[in-house]
Amino acid sequence: MKESAPGAEDYDGIRVCDHPVPPWWKWLFVITIGYGMAFLLWHFITGGSTARDAYEAALAAQAEQRTAAYGELAADEATILGHIDDEAAMAGMAGLFKSKCAQCHRVDGGGSIGPNLTDDAWIRVTHVTDIARIIGEGVAVKGMPGWEGMLTPTQIVLLSSYVARLQRHPAFDGKKAEGEVVAPWPRAAPASPPEETPGP
Ligand code: HEC
Repeated sequence: MKESAPGAEDYDGIRVCDHPVPPWWKWLFVITIGYGMAFLLWHFITGGSTARDAYEAALAAQAEQRTAAYGELAADEATILGHIDDEAAMAGMAGLFKSKCAQCHRVDGGGSIGPNLTDDAWIRVTHVTDIARIIGEGVAVKGMPGWEGMLTPTQIVLLSSYVARLQRHPAFDGKKAEGEVVAPWPRAAPASPPEETPGP
């Protein structure tokens, strides 16, 4: 039989060794436990910022950057409808809609607490400019907050374009239509894009 290594025992010819794990491994283990506990405490107990908060902040920053380039837009029909095909602005508005409106109107606009915005029936809208007015004023009696002061006038205009465009993709499982059917929006000339601004 071979000479046993120090700390090794022999049971019926089977050599059982007891090598200690290397210190770096032990410390890594201790650090992961410490990190895990700190993570738990930070995210779930003290309510520290999460990846979701960071994502939402990034979406809002993106929307802000996109809209800043437009200067102040007027909330008239030509401007609202003119930006309906403005893909860069609409991508920014998708983020804004998700962070500010989706909790009541659903991410796809299909409606939950608030009505379905993807059908052609409207409760309080007969003209596309009513969308901007409602976003600004809200509908206090029904629990829809007004966004005047929280969003810039330009954001409200572009968000109205985004809402007007939602009808292109009716939510298949959206809330049932409420209000009156409104004729399709008139066609408008595309608005000219803002000066190119360098990206971040
Ligand atoms: C706290 C919930 C809530 C949030 C957040 C909210 N809404 Fe609403 N919204 C409502 C409710 C409820 C109504 C229905 C009011 C009524 O019955 O007249 C409504 C109505 C509307 C309407 C009119 C719909 C119609 O059929 O006439 C528009 C447009 C609208 N919301 C857009 C938005 C946009 C854009 C945002 C985000 C900036 C937003 N809403 C955020 C609850 C909300």
